[in-house]
Amino acid sequence: MRFMLVTKNEEMKHVKKTKIIKINAEKPEEAHLREAAAILRRGGLVAFPTETVYGLGAAVNHPQAIQRLYAVKGRPVDNPLIVHLDSYQRLPAVAVAVPPAARRLAGKFWPGPLTMVLPKKATVPAEVSAGLPTVAVRVPAHPVALRLLELAGIPVAAPSANLSGRPSPTRGSHVVEDLDGLVEMILDAGPTGVGVESTVLDLTGETPRILRPGGVTREMLEGVFGVGQVEEADPATIESGRPLAPGMKYRHYAPKAPLYLVAGEPARVNRYIVDRLAEEEKTRRKPAVLAYDEDRDYYRGVLFFSLGKREKPEEAAERLFSLLRACDEAGAESIYAAAPSRTGLGRAVFNRLWKAAGGNVVEVG
Ligand code: TXA
Ligand code: MG
Repeated sequence: MRFMLVTKNEEMKHVKKTKIIKINAEKPEEAHLREAAAILRRGGLVAFPTETVYGLGAAVNHPQAIQRLYAVKGRPVDNPLIVHLDSYQRLPAVAVAVPPAARRLAGKFWPGPLTMVLPKKATVPAEVSAGLPTVAVRVPAHPVALRLLELAGIPVAAPSANLSGRPSPTRGSHVVEDLDGLVEMILDAGPTGVGVESTVLDLTGETPRILRPGGVTREMLEGVFGVGQVEEADPATIESGRPLAPGMKYRHYAPKAPLYLVAGEPARVNRYIVDRLAEEEKTRRKPAVLAYDEDRDYYRGVLFFSLGKREKPEEAAERLFSLLRACDEAGAESIYAAAPSRTGLGRAVFNRLWKAAGGNVVEVG
């Protein structure tokens, strides 16, 4: 018999049975939400949909619940969590010195896929912010998330509901794959809308700075602050130096197979990938391709997944994480991805592919 060392964290991780509940996305059944809210309030873990990706919630004021959340996900403890609120009015519960910009942004983008980094109130446990003096906050725009937060009546920390390193979950089934048996409850409301996570915006400096591109685009933020008035942290710098959004330094959103991100003029990108596929034939690896509807003809007879129409990055955003999981399921041993243009929502899609590629991109001009 194999002897297994069970650490305290391992013990903390397992629950007897996860309650998996199908819930209506537009008109969520109140009884389910009440039960979920009660679990959160007593320090349990509940996975729920947001408009971006599914989140795994734990009460901010419950340090043990927060510790268990890190253990369950296998998340590095230096990677802080986003606090979810049911309204802007609750912001003073977690942040001090709310700058005028936060009010304006909330008025325009909350509820919605924008996370603001603000000076943290002392009452927010260090576990939530990984010891940083700041706290990241957002009000999610999903009827299930909003009503759940309202009923819980407390701030809820919620990272994406995937195991650390795996693509973020955009379907209830993804959450079940990763967390069944590890959390008290999973609320399955079907596909999320946006598909990539919220934009993380640092408001603690002179100039607002994007730490992670997401659902609220740079162009939308420039609409508020003025063109050229929004900085953007270079993810490559974040990788090498002291990370600004600590989560950005980890390779994640990653399928099991190595992913090669190819950027440039579409015809060149396709020709490059076709050449690589010919090489792959010799190595007998099973490749998969992620490209656009317009590219299909290049990839007859190859495992091909469409990111939608090239000019519609919202299609790529919606299905990206799902397709990365599908590559794994199909047994792909290498993945070639055609990069979207780095504007609008395409910037967030590019960023996630770049992360999945371990920070490498092939530029073919
Ligand atoms: O759309 C989303 O934001 C989803 C849904 C569930 O709301 N949540 C999400 O959480 O993506 P997570 O934990 O997967 O990503 C949080 C990101 C990480 O990159 C983390 O480092 C950064 O936010 N972050 C959190 N607190 C921060 C802080 N105080 N300063 C800088 N970055 C912070
Ligand atoms: Mg995540």
